[in-house]
Amino acid sequence: MSREIAEIRNEVKAWPLVLREDQRITYRSPSNIALLKYWGKRPGQLPVNPSLSFSLTKAFTETTLIAVQNAPQKGLYDLNEDPDHPFLIKIRPFWEKVQQEIPLLTGLRISILTQNSFPHGAGIASSASGFSALALAILDLAQTLSKRQLARAEFLKYASNLARMGSGSAARSIYPGFTVWGATPVYTGSSDLFASDINHQIHPDFTHLQNAILLVSAREKSLSSSGGHALMNSHPYAEGRILQAQNHLLQFHNALTEGDLQKLAVLSEAEALSLHALIMSSAGGTILLEPSSLALIQRIRSARKSGLPVFFTIDAGPNIHLIYPESTKDAVRDFIRNGLSDLCPENQVIYDSCGPGPEKLTELP
Ligand code: PMV
Repeated sequence: MSREIAEIRNEVKAWPLVLREDQRITYRSPSNIALLKYWGKRPGQLPVNPSLSFSLTKAFTETTLIAVQNAPQKGLYDLNEDPDHPFLIKIRPFWEKVQQEIPLLTGLRISILTQNSFPHGAGIASSASGFSALALAILDLAQTLSKRQLARAEFLKYASNLARMGSGSAARSIYPGFTVWGATPVYTGSSDLFASDINHQIHPDFTHLQNAILLVSAREKSLSSSGGHALMNSHPYAEGRILQAQNHLLQFHNALTEGDLQKLAVLSEAEALSLHALIMSSAGGTILLEPSSLALIQRIRSARKSGLPVFFTIDAGPNIHLIYPESTKDAVRDFIRNGLSDLCPENQVIYDSCGPGPEKLTELP
């Protein structure tokens, strides 16, 4: 039985620096795609509603953490060997929070080497894979330097809690397959602080769900996810949205345990369209969908009406994520090639699927 997060936190906070040696630790962590969307947050990067997602396979970040002791510089020093890397602006506040949580890390000089397996602007959340890989490497580093070790379930729970501080959706990338993040009576043990593995409650037909990303546009988004979350604080429909998400969660749970694809399709599409309706009705009235996004939605829905088991979800961007079971992979790929990809510039489609979760990589010389 895994301990409460507060107890784990207190233990980790008190870990002493025992090993006086430089370290290199590498983790690979996947991105994830939410079917029930996290949209809106409370202080401390806590969600206003529970969310549910599955981790991907091919879309991942590989991150190496290099910790040097006794260096003249202290703290987060460089990213991909560049002390002025623009991403450091996002990572520095995270590192400050992590140092407060794990004081033994104070005084080290930290370098990060990181790369994504997918292109920028592909509609895949690199913050989810990036912060989860980083959180895993950091907690592993703390274990190594203190010569202490958490039980596996506690390690993952605490890594998820740390990843959340970097990017909310990163909390969910710590686990393989399906996860839920946000306290809900539907899943025992769920929390706003960390994500939980719910794979034991998923019907076998869904454990290998496929996700083809139909790339409509790689243009820079006109609304960042942090900007979008912030707009929910004064959104006229915020209360209704929170209720909707809570109700959807129970329905998702039912569809996922029963293996009911029709139910899952209707719910996932309702979630994606709600997210965009909220974005459109936020102050500033942002439209992220493109004409091709809408055309794809119509074609996907009419294919489902004709019996093809496909549905879509959409993140905060114009690209359409097509979801389908592994058993009909070949038929759906024909449909994508012959019936959808003409709407994607240069026929760009990325094929991914529900995946095995993060992995610690052995360092290459
Ligand atoms: O983790 P963030 O702050 O990038 O927010 C993610 C928001 C969505 O991708 C739109 C939904 C989700 O739950 O992943």
